[in-house]
Amino acid sequence: MDWGLKNRLSKIISPKDNRGVMLAVDHGYFLGPTDGLQTPRTTIRPLLPYADSLMLTRGVLRTSVNPDVNIPIVLRVSGGTSIVGDDLSNESLVTSVEEAIRLNASCLALSIFVGSKYEHKTLVNLSKLVDLGERYGIPILAVTAVGKEMNRDSRYLGLACRIAAEIGAHIVKTYYCQNFEEVVEGCPVPVIIAGGKKLPRELEALQLAYNALRDGAAGVDMGRNIWQSRFPTSMIKAVRSIVHGSSNPEAAFEEFIKSSEIETHIESR
Ligand code: R5P
Repeated sequence: MDWGLKNRLSKIISPKDNRGVMLAVDHGYFLGPTDGLQTPRTTIRPLLPYADSLMLTRGVLRTSVNPDVNIPIVLRVSGGTSIVGDDLSNESLVTSVEEAIRLNASCLALSIFVGSKYEHKTLVNLSKLVDLGERYGIPILAVTAVGKEMNRDSRYLGLACRIAAEIGAHIVKTYYCQNFEEVVEGCPVPVIIAGGKKLPRELEALQLAYNALRDGAAGVDMGRNIWQSRFPTSMIKAVRSIVHGSSNPEAAFEEFIKSSEIETHIESR
């Protein structure tokens, strides 16, 4: 691994504790204006101080993040499908590596759909992107997308993560599941977890993050459970205290409550 690639990777997963908080705001690439992310700039701005990196598309980066901001960018470069189209797994590379370099991306993200109709295409997409990433010193994050018909169990997720790592991904994002430690054990590169759909209570999302880290995850790539919370800033702070601090879920939730009281106070002024 060359110096540039290692340097970029160290911005995503901190070498101090081998962990990272990635804020995911790329959902619009196939979902359109999702709840909580209708106006990306408004959602993103207050959360930036608490994220180690920001995952998004070039369109949202250009329009909704000031270029003087000091945050490593994880650029989603796969897409080309939508929630109303035929098959979400039929993704292609939709942003070039030259463009990613112009945008000063620290990492490139792409989805793979293991077990889907377009499994082969998305895995070949990953292999091509890894070759380009290696050429220019940019790490690749493989996102293990799970079709509706797939079980989110350790056997399936372990298979998808391992294949991503075998093809050369430098980080893999997946979902938390029972026996998650088996997924991590079988994957020779850092595994981070997505939050998934907004859980009814913040404590549940904090528990999810805690369990994942306890079982070997290198961090979170979390979106909806942060910005669909009524108190997104308090929520990302609480998530951060689990990833980089020593908080257990209850302590982090207490922190969330205290911080949300301050946010309520500010809102009501
Ligand atoms: C899917 O739209 C993206 O890959 C998201 O970045 C990923 O699912 C993480 O976001 P969330 O925590 O909302 O699941």
